[in-house]
Amino acid sequence: MLKSHGCGALRAEHAGQTVSLAGWVHRRRDHGQLIFIDLRDRDGLVQIVVRPDDHPDAYAAANDVRGEYVLRVEGEVVERSDATRNPNLPTGDVEVVATSVHVLNAAKTPPFSVSEDDDVNELVRMQYRYIDLRRPTMIAALELRHRLNQFIRDFMTERGFLEVETPILVAATPEGARDYVVPSRLTPGAFYALPQAPQQFKQLLMVAGVERYFQIARCFRDEDLRADRQPEFVQLDLEWSFCEEEDILGLLEELFSQAAAALRPDLTVPRPFPRLTWQEAMERYGSDKPDLRYGLELSDCSDIAETSGFGVFSSTIANDGRVRGIVMPGGASLSRRDVDGFTNLAKTMGAPGLVSLQFSADPAAATEDDVRSPVLRHLGIADARRIGERCGASAGDLVLLAAGEAGMVSTVLDGIRRELARRLDLIDDTILNFGFITDFPLVEWDDDGQRWDALHHPFTAPNEADAALLDSDPANVRARAYDAICNGFELGSGSIRIHQRDLQLQVFELLGIDAKEAQQRFGHMLDAFEYGAPPHGGFAFGIDRVAMLLAGTENIREVIAFPKTMSASDPMTGAPMPIAVEQLDELHLLVQQAESADQSAGG
Ligand code: AMO
Repeated sequence: MLKSHGCGALRAEHAGQTVSLAGWVHRRRDHGQLIFIDLRDRDGLVQIVVRPDDHPDAYAAANDVRGEYVLRVEGEVVERSDATRNPNLPTGDVEVVATSVHVLNAAKTPPFSVSEDDDVNELVRMQYRYIDLRRPTMIAALELRHRLNQFIRDFMTERGFLEVETPILVAATPEGARDYVVPSRLTPGAFYALPQAPQQFKQLLMVAGVERYFQIARCFRDEDLRADRQPEFVQLDLEWSFCEEEDILGLLEELFSQAAAALRPDLTVPRPFPRLTWQEAMERYGSDKPDLRYGLELSDCSDIAETSGFGVFSSTIANDGRVRGIVMPGGASLSRRDVDGFTNLAKTMGAPGLVSLQFSADPAAATEDDVRSPVLRHLGIADARRIGERCGASAGDLVLLAAGEAGMVSTVLDGIRRELARRLDLIDDTILNFGFITDFPLVEWDDDGQRWDALHHPFTAPNEADAALLDSDPANVRARAYDAICNGFELGSGSIRIHQRDLQLQVFELLGIDAKEAQQRFGHMLDAFEYGAPPHGGFAFGIDRVAMLLAGTENIREVIAFPKTMSASDPMTGAPMPIAVEQLDELHLLVQQAESADQSAGG
């Protein structure tokens, strides 16, 4: 080894020892008769002092170095005087007085500073990721992920789960996103899909008698990207035979709370994890992944709207819509412009507008002079009072109401609720508020496709109590499906599965997949169910998302070594890129646009 110690490992107890260090020049300061170098490696930094008189060669070498040069330094660890100790640095009690300095490699001036936590353009950071990852926050993120993976492996192994790897070149899986596909050379015109999740394989492992499976599994989904989504991501995927909902939720509560305690002991994790049915979550928060760190619950005012003299409200209810509201405490003093700001936000989420009521007095006793609202004339003071009371508003509060189709109203008020929490400073970053959402609907109506879609996936078991509704009223069939949430994010989903061929066929039929197509696409599953399939269930959560929450960021790319941009490209390697015509030929592919074919001929 070129080094005897890590830079960040040196302490007062090493004083007097001769050490050799190797790392990068974090900073260099020239004090005329002395050169100071902060030498950095993965462990941290230590200050090197180079004096011209003692070691002229070392001084000459140190004179030439610049930021990010790679050095090997030999020297003696010396305790610093009280006046020069640096309490902010773990190695701040010592410095290394250099006897030799060797440049192992020079470095160009990096495109951004490793030593300063500047706001660097993210594309540039991704293009030079190998430099970006040198930054202490990024090393810390890599370390956190490593420890999280290690924790998961130990936790699952202790509980008898077996890690099994499943294939990456697979047949298309119906997980709900678009597939990434890989052309087959040996079977012209045929394609593999990259797995959106190992769903079918893990169920087949249950039929195989594995009983308890897990995998830290890479998944691929070609979908619109967001701050918490990547085209390839990693799941903790698990499946368990002979288990019920409680077993899985219990295991997950242990796993999440123990992982948080191990990796972020400074954060509070309230237990037991709250549980909400999907229905309750949608009613109270307008979201199936509500942030439970604050209240700001929604109230339903549909019955008041139904008989209202305000035509927008009454016609919304007549058209099967809903009117719901949320209170901003203290919002009565907001200006017209501030209130319009909420309306504009609501418009970006699909609402035609919002109705606002500002109460300067207690709603129960409010007169027309106490309520400021652009629609007060239409609504009348009596209904304004009822709405204020229904929403639980007090004197000085603002009520915001959304009217329209139920799903849109939920989306809008969920967005407004999150925005209010930010403005009112209600978000406590010292808490990880995990929770479970249960009893999701089995299917939802897809207006575009004019068919029922599985809300989770087609292998999810319906609640037995609702089995009779499968044919007559699918919208009201509850699934044995559950999600884990934390601080307003969905961490993962799972369900108890169907393990009988007939029920699986019935659910496929409901989803518009007839018996012939079912046999063609999922024959292996249907057949397996006839060879002794045990009852089973499982779960998968996004490891990137959990790492993101543990690292205290809302950008998933901050916890991925080599992430992709929002347009699913990699600015460092240039992927995706055209391929050579010969390669296309070999794969029996023709690229439609002549232009890209020309480019690929060159590459
Ligand atoms: P689901 O599709 O809900 O369930 O995915 C589970 C979890 O995976 C994470 N995730 C993502 N993370 C980052 N980028 C993405 N594009 C992305 N897509 C999903 C989320 C999500 O909650 N097979 C089922 C699980 C099961 O039923 O056992 C499944 O994959 O955190």
